Amino acid sequence: MSNEPLPVDQLTDMEASAELKDLATEINAHDKAYYQDDAPSISDGEYDALRQRNQDLEAAFPHLIRKDSPSKRVGATPTSGFSKVAHARPMLSLGNVFSEEELADFLTGVRRFLKELTDDPSIPLDMVAEPKIDGLSISLRYEKGKFISAATRGDGAVGEDVTANVKTFKELPFELKGNVPEVVEVRGEVYLAKSDFAELNKRQEKADDKVFANPRNAAAGSLRQLDISITASRPLKMFAYAWGELSEPVGDTQWAFFEQLKAWGFQVNPLTKVCNDLAGLMAAYTEIAEQRASLDYDIDGVVYKVNRLDWQERLGFVSRAPRWATAHKFPAEKAQTVINDIDIQVGRTGSLTPVAKLEPVTVGGVVVSNATLHNEDEIARKDIRVGDTVVIQRAGDVIPQVVEVVLEKRAKGSKAFKYPIKCPICGSDAVRDEGEAVRRCTGGSICEAQIVERFRHFVSRGAFDIEGFGSKHVEAFFDEGLIKTAADIFRLNEHENDLRGREGWGDKSVDKLLAAIELRRTVPLDRFIFALGIRQIGQANARLLAKQYISIGALRQAMQEATVIGSDALSDLNNIDGVGPSVAKDLISFFNEENNQALLDDFEAQLTIEDFEAPDDSGSPIVGKTIVFTGTLETVTRGEAKAKAEQLGAKVAGSVSKKTDLVVAGPGAGSKAKKAEELGVRLLSEEEWLELIGEG
Ligand code: IVH
Repeated sequence: MSNEPLPVDQLTDMEASAELKDLATEINAHDKAYYQDDAPSISDGEYDALRQRNQDLEAAFPHLIRKDSPSKRVGATPTSGFSKVAHARPMLSLGNVFSEEELADFLTGVRRFLKELTDDPSIPLDMVAEPKIDGLSISLRYEKGKFISAATRGDGAVGEDVTANVKTFKELPFELKGNVPEVVEVRGEVYLAKSDFAELNKRQEKADDKVFANPRNAAAGSLRQLDISITASRPLKMFAYAWGELSEPVGDTQWAFFEQLKAWGFQVNPLTKVCNDLAGLMAAYTEIAEQRASLDYDIDGVVYKVNRLDWQERLGFVSRAPRWATAHKFPAEKAQTVINDIDIQVGRTGSLTPVAKLEPVTVGGVVVSNATLHNEDEIARKDIRVGDTVVIQRAGDVIPQVVEVVLEKRAKGSKAFKYPIKCPICGSDAVRDEGEAVRRCTGGSICEAQIVERFRHFVSRGAFDIEGFGSKHVEAFFDEGLIKTAADIFRLNEHENDLRGREGWGDKSVDKLLAAIELRRTVPLDRFIFALGIRQIGQANARLLAKQYISIGALRQAMQEATVIGSDALSDLNNIDGVGPSVAKDLISFFNEENNQALLDDFEAQLTIEDFEAPDDSGSPIVGKTIVFTGTLETVTRGEAKAKAEQLGAKVAGSVSKKTDLVVAGPGAGSKAKKAEELGVRLLSEEEWLELIGEG
């Protein structure tokens, strides 16, 4: 482009398109020269001007933005995978301590190792304490002060060459000035700031790209990119904390080494401290732990290193960890953060569930921004308020919980949380039945939250399991009026054209979804019952009902008959083990509600609801039988006996009726055994029972 370029607003589409194409080729070539070949082909100013022109054109002609536009790529793509690099000095790991006691033992071990410290207990053992950064370690090699190469830790002996990627880091010194040994390998931890991580995931989600579980994964995924433009677009940073090969020593102490690193322009963690005894280290540990949640990077402990480098040298290594350093790990999965808000979610049965919206915080490697508050009593009991700093904990994969409020950090003038008595979605009264912990929206079928939640449940894994029918679809289809009731899902094929016309939806996704729906037009009774989302009817109860009533017709008929107090149908229902009066009440009211009856008719017209089929238990002596256990069992728990009976195809009931086939009575059996006798039901001892099922 030798001529002065025309102002963008004077260009035609064709001219702009041609220029964008040239710019893409040109800028990408400069990127390759710079990032890959280490040989910039133009000055920074010229390069910036090209990029600016590209940006201006794209702003004026957004419809002409190219797939290979430099605005989408910051660097160049290496042509092959990562090559392997052997570390000049192995990259080691660290031993762990988890308590003050273990730390004391560690210090004792160090003192015992060094004779002078053993001989003279008054000599202090200075240690450096610094946060243990939760990222990935890297080794940077400098020769004559110039950055040469970078390698990941790999297996400690051999890592991967990520030189091109590291060159895209914004905050690293690529030239070391001043007192620089011929060869310096600086080691440290590459990380992504929590805030950058959140931004990145937002972008990823928007672009329908993979979201990362935590900042460490995101950092690793961002560094190890063959397309270094991706690395370049992610603001990776590094804390320097160790060295590899050194052609001459740098300082006498760890602290002095850090000072030198800072002077060279590396980031050294600002919380780093020298401590001279156990108490000092513990104080440093506590201080760092307290700041953990408010730091913009993840840490998972505190690292202690012997300050004197000559002592480090003498202490050396055991297997692959230094004797002169250890990591004091934080106890797993608790963190402090602030409650920004308390959200009230409305479930499919109208239950209001309070959810704490948290300032995002990493707990056990996972970023947590919500925690359950269970119900209004729990909030009152713990006096949890918006704005409070709270301790949250995450056990395994369960939803994080608020353990307690950090009262010292409560803001003056904070007010107790007022639990809503109206549904926050539909505005209907939200009431609490006596003895119930849960407040419920009374909006029923007019409450959009309940409707959408019911849909979600309907298509979920344990229910109709319609693949590809995610929450987003549920909400969108509902909002667009494509589905009003769950039965409408099976009429979506009549809206094929509307579906195909939806923005961002390809024919393929439409075909896939419709096929997935067709696949579920035939459904086993137990799944169907579960999918209805009746209060208290989870998968287990749905199965019990299916087993009891076999067909949808029989079930509906029985539920109608059960409205009559004293009817056989009602006592049969109550007699299903696991179905108490409260469950029975919910079932009866569901099946007899007018809208639900219309919906069930609609389903029956749309679907094939398969009769319940008992598992193949041919040969089982108790298949299809109704059994009641009573009294104390001696060889197994009641729960295990019940599970065994069900596994063999029997139904287990809670009380004896004329429909009972067997009563297994242990010591202490009272009225049930008596009733069995009266009704002529076969009575078995535990021993006889075991014999019957072949376990005697
Ligand atoms: S020193 C020879 N200091 O933790 C000692 N390591 O569990 C080398 N790490 O592989 C490590 N923060 O990736 C050191 N301030 C810190 C650290 C740190 C994080 C990582 C490092 C190491 C791992 C060991």
